[in-house]
Amino acid sequence: MTSPASFPPGAADRVAMLIVAAGKGLRAGGGLPKQYRKIGGTPVLRRTIEAALACERVSCVVVLIGEDDGTHYADCIAGLADPRLRPPATGGDTRQQTVLNGLRALDDFAPDIVLVHDGARPFVSAKVIAASIDAIVTGHRAAIAAIPVSDTLKRADGESGAILGTVERSGLYAAQTPQAFRYSDILAAHERAASEGLASFTDDAAVAEWAGHTVVLTPGETGNIKITTAEDLRRLDSESATREQRMDMETRVATAYDVHAFEAGSGVILGGIPIPHDRALKGHSDADVVLHALTDAVLATICDGDIGHHFPPSDPQWRGAPSDQFLAYAVDRLRQRGGRISHLDVTIVCERPKIGPHRETMRARIAEICGTPLHRVSVKATTSERLGFTGREEGIAALATATVRLPAEDDELPAQGARA
Ligand code: CTP
Ligand code: MG
Repeated sequence: MTSPASFPPGAADRVAMLIVAAGKGLRAGGGLPKQYRKIGGTPVLRRTIEAALACERVSCVVVLIGEDDGTHYADCIAGLADPRLRPPATGGDTRQQTVLNGLRALDDFAPDIVLVHDGARPFVSAKVIAASIDAIVTGHRAAIAAIPVSDTLKRADGESGAILGTVERSGLYAAQTPQAFRYSDILAAHERAASEGLASFTDDAAVAEWAGHTVVLTPGETGNIKITTAEDLRRLDSESATREQRMDMETRVATAYDVHAFEAGSGVILGGIPIPHDRALKGHSDADVVLHALTDAVLATICDGDIGHHFPPSDPQWRGAPSDQFLAYAVDRLRQRGGRISHLDVTIVCERPKIGPHRETMRARIAEICGTPLHRVSVKATTSERLGFTGREEGIAALATATVRLPAEDDELPAQGARA
């Protein structure tokens, strides 16, 4: 069985990724900085952060944000629960100052390798990130992702526009990010540049070169573009809409039901949070009936069995286990199929404990476990008017509904014989 999504695999080297997103995005026009504008309904910066987290070898991500952008940032990462995403740090007036602040913010994490990546490059692939890491792991001091220049290059007079010559294209590369370094090297280089009052380096590779390190190129990708203008945003937004249409997404809805009986005790776990009560719920795991129903509903959207199939009660490792890992695992299975949660809804049936006072905490916890925004999670409760087992307070029942968007798969045609 694959382990739940929330547990990143260990790596020999601790790799930190700084995402620099403290710019004002002036070339993309005034108003909301470009990194907080949306492509296909998702903010650019959220896409960048998710792309960084999609590379399992990245062990921590720190985003550098503008002084006044705290609220934009909080909205942008709502529901992102990956523990590798650390609190943001504040950038500076120049990209160079922003990176230095980021390197200093990594002090307590003390990574072996640090990658610096533009927040405005949301389409970086895990492959490009891994290639940067590999360059350092294999002994290089500094590396930058780059692609060969494919356009013919002309040198021209800026005023008259007259061409002065053609620039030999071979051996020319367009620099991208991530740029990768040994943490101690790049921190020392940046500190020294700052202390010498040198503030006009355009990227970190230039700082490393100045400090005397050889910088090598690693393969970038044409898709790893930096969003610069409002036109870039418009074009990518409309392309993303067609991508989604082309992928032919479908909506699926699944329901699930679970019950746990009461036993002696002094509290229950419901929706991932502890609630004081004069009884406890009986079960092999922590008996969180709410998360169990949600787990089954999510698994059902991809026809992927049920919780008992993936986490057999006969297996001692799940004894007393917190159920958040079951739900995170189900959501990971959904994401692996390219799916995402549109909505989760759960109804808790019990006379007591009263759910109302805990409802918002429960919603927030479920959203966090699923890495989905709060507005996509609904929790409600009802009594059964003292009827039946819930009415007699013998146990608690939960009903869950999961609605997801999923790339449509071609329907298989029925076999000839079955058609008649
Ligand atoms: N950046 C930063 N701190 C700065 C300047 C830039 O963190 N003081 C970041 C940007 O947020 C961006 C990346 O560096 O992710 C690349 O910079 P650029 O594309 O130039 O972004 P902006 O400076 O925001 O845009 P503009 O130059 O158009 O104002
Ligand atoms: Mg700039």
